[in-house]
Amino acid sequence: MGTEPPDPVGLEMRIDVVSIFVDYLAPLNLSLVGRAQRSGLLDVQLHDLRGHATDRHRTVDDSPYGGGPGMVMRPDVWGEALDSVLAQASESPPVLVVPTPSGEPFTAAVAEELAGSGWLVFACGRYEGIDARVMTHYRDRCEVREISIGDVVLAGGEAAVLVMVEAIARLLPGVLGNPASAADDSFAPGRAGGPLEGPVYTRPPVWRGLSVPPVLMSGDHGEVSRWRAQESADRSRAMRPDLVPPDVP
Ligand code: ADE
Repeated sequence: MGTEPPDPVGLEMRIDVVSIFVDYLAPLNLSLVGRAQRSGLLDVQLHDLRGHATDRHRTVDDSPYGGGPGMVMRPDVWGEALDSVLAQASESPPVLVVPTPSGEPFTAAVAEELAGSGWLVFACGRYEGIDARVMTHYRDRCEVREISIGDVVLAGGEAAVLVMVEAIARLLPGVLGNPASAADDSFAPGRAGGPLEGPVYTRPPVWRGLSVPPVLMSGDHGEVSRWRAQESADRSRAMRPDLVPPDVP
């Protein structure tokens, strides 16, 4: 009758994030991801990379071999940090995710794959990136995925982690109030019409002289589905012609 405590839920995923700006990741305590943590579906642990530096200045970077601008993150500091995270081992090793503009594109399919792993470790680079030997070394110990969230260069991996964790968390069982909303998302496999969702409307029926399309108020579910598929196809062709096969009407 509304007074029962919620059903106990099992942990679906553990996420560790290593960064020199752990405060940047505070939004992981808000909204959907924060709720998933509080309900026990998700366990997020943040680790300060500088805690693994060995000198007085807690240095994490140095100039690049071969010359060039900027600084590169040191492999020894990253090695200590990641070893300490991996030492908290569960039965199977984690997937190590390294956000970088030179990685594979982050897509709905990649989010699904990562959501299927029980343990993700994110390594946030800054400056010109992390010494490449770190990725080479950990490939022998776990799956390593270097991933880009888009063809744009950010100041570091933290904002990319916020994007990826939110996209992944909403795919975990029990995280979304209504799982049907994920099934109907843009990019959901088998979406009717096209890969992008069309426009949506709510009350009031007329706002500043603009009316809601009458078909949506007709009560005819078949007509509504056909209209939405058409809008989805039109929008996909207009916004993302690269995603629409040329032979689709
Ligand atoms: N770090 C800097 N730019 C990035 C990007 N586009 N994707 C992921 N990580 C990044």
